[in-house]
Amino acid sequence: MKDLKYYINKALKEHFALGAINFNNMETLQGIVNACKTEQSPAIISVSEGALNYMSDNYAIALANAAKKDFPYLYLHLDHGKSFEVCKHAIDLGFDSVMIDGSSLSFEENVELTKKVCEYAHKYNVLVEGELGQIKGIEDNISAQKNIYTDPNKAKEFVDKTHVDTLAVAIGTSHGAYKYSGKQELRFDILSEIEKQLPNFPLVLHGASTVDEELVDRFNQYGGTLKNAIGIPKNLLKKAVSQHNIIKINTDTDVRLSMTCEVRRVLKEYTNEFDLRKYLGAGKDCICQTIRNKIKDIFLSNNKL
Ligand code: G3H
Ligand code: 13P
Ligand code: ZN
Repeated sequence: MKDLKYYINKALKEHFALGAINFNNMETLQGIVNACKTEQSPAIISVSEGALNYMSDNYAIALANAAKKDFPYLYLHLDHGKSFEVCKHAIDLGFDSVMIDGSSLSFEENVELTKKVCEYAHKYNVLVEGELGQIKGIEDNISAQKNIYTDPNKAKEFVDKTHVDTLAVAIGTSHGAYKYSGKQELRFDILSEIEKQLPNFPLVLHGASTVDEELVDRFNQYGGTLKNAIGIPKNLLKKAVSQHNIIKINTDTDVRLSMTCEVRRVLKEYTNEFDLRKYLGAGKDCICQTIRNKIKDIFLSNNKL
């Protein structure tokens, strides 16, 4: 069986990315798996601390195992682990990789914490993602007021000292549905400088949802009130994948939007409907379509098994 490291190396060499897609329940996961199966794309299925608390360990692991049985090119990842204990817990549960997010700490503290997680994880062949710089946005457990771009001069020192397998970089993406108030851009100059310091090293983009206008419009058409929601333009993400060393693209907001706009639509259009399979099923299908489009247009990971 090919492991996650195999696909990270393949992605680096062939310039595609693994979608790292968050799931929170069976329907979100099935939508993701159906997309990957249809497009024959390897992918990372991510669970945040909040998602793990929501599903509980037993259900999260059982769902991930069912997904892998259905399509064995999926890798279970802890998203934004904030402490050694949370990462250790995920490693002990059998996750394939963990992210230790020390981005809110000082450089030295981040190095120390990340190194400790790597030492433990690598004993069990679990990969570790670190983060340098801060990716703005406010989610359950993640908050950063403004973007603090990754310092390219610190990137090599961070990787050398910690032995992380992949590095999340801050180049202008942000979490959630409101990513820009001004120009929609990414700092490719910073990305190129990081790549000069760390040649051929696998890099990760968080906060990479595209927040498609069509989904936001549908959400609002059926009673939602999302105003000025805006994501990362597709062409910028595609450039980061095809011309740079971004091999993992994190996506959560677009999954949530896909599910919720369809739930809104079905409940509004069929006001006497209370069969939950009707609205959750519609949400699942919409997630599948959203991820299929990303696989083909952004991750470029179709037919890469
Ligand atoms: O990047 C963060 C993910 O969107 C996870 O969000 O903590 O609300 O599950 P969450
Ligand atoms: P989005 O909010 O852009 O989907 O980012 C998700 C993410 O970075 C998960 O770690
Ligand atoms: Zn993130």
